[in-house]
Amino acid sequence: MGSFYFYTMSAAHPIGVFDSGVGGTSIWQEIHSLLPHENTLYLADSKNAPYGNKTQEEIIALSIKNTEWLLQHQCKIIVVACNTATTNAIKVLRSRYSVPFIGIEPAIKPAALQTKTKSIGILATKGTLSSDLFYKTTKEHANDVKITEIIGEGLVPLIEKGQFNSPEMTKLLNKYTQPMIAAQIDCLVLGCSHYPYLIPLLKNMLPETIKIIDSGEAVARQTKSILERNHLLNTAMEKPALDFYSNLDTNTLAYLLKGYSTKIRINKINF
Ligand code: DGL
Repeated sequence: MGSFYFYTMSAAHPIGVFDSGVGGTSIWQEIHSLLPHENTLYLADSKNAPYGNKTQEEIIALSIKNTEWLLQHQCKIIVVACNTATTNAIKVLRSRYSVPFIGIEPAIKPAALQTKTKSIGILATKGTLSSDLFYKTTKEHANDVKITEIIGEGLVPLIEKGQFNSPEMTKLLNKYTQPMIAAQIDCLVLGCSHYPYLIPLLKNMLPETIKIIDSGEAVARQTKSILERNHLLNTAMEKPALDFYSNLDTNTLAYLLKGYSTKIRINKINF
């Protein structure tokens, strides 16, 4: 059983967000844009990134550790801003803790509904693509669609280092998109919260006919709806506290959040 947290959840408590690193900030940006009055607490477990090549047991253990930390800081809801952690660990998290969890999963269903060529591509981590949840989702929603699954090996470590546009990144993305172009996909699902930061580069290398789909906005809408349902939406108009914590170098975090620099606080922690 999980630990018990004796605090009464209130609307003023923060929305907790965690990811294996900086990628979940792509989800945080959507949440902050939809819910600008909410206090938020972001935990980047960059020291343990990437999660994508770890075993399910390891991913569960790290997800529990991150959740415990956010609960110690009185989060009223937890957004698992990591596809790998969601697809491998959210079931366990929900069974251990009573706080509401929002997860992020590859947007296979919207892509299957939109595709005209009946061929879609997905770029995600090994952990996500090999998970039972991903298997179930594709079987249920994309059975009549050809899916080209590509593991984005090496992408997350480069993004963690702030390399969104380096020759190495271009080389990897070229290699990963070629089989998708050959398969005549018309939708590319980004199944990792780090990957939305690669959209400018991807747009340069993909034909215009390919639509890039990620799940950030849907996660923000779902977060809002669950907060509403639990009467936990923060209606206070004061300036929200927007705190970011990383257990490694904070440079990439600061770079990705530079547009918010006057509003946020970024801290390094031993975690
Ligand atoms: N942002 C994580 C995801 O959405 C990255 C996984 C990793 O650390 O490999 O899957």
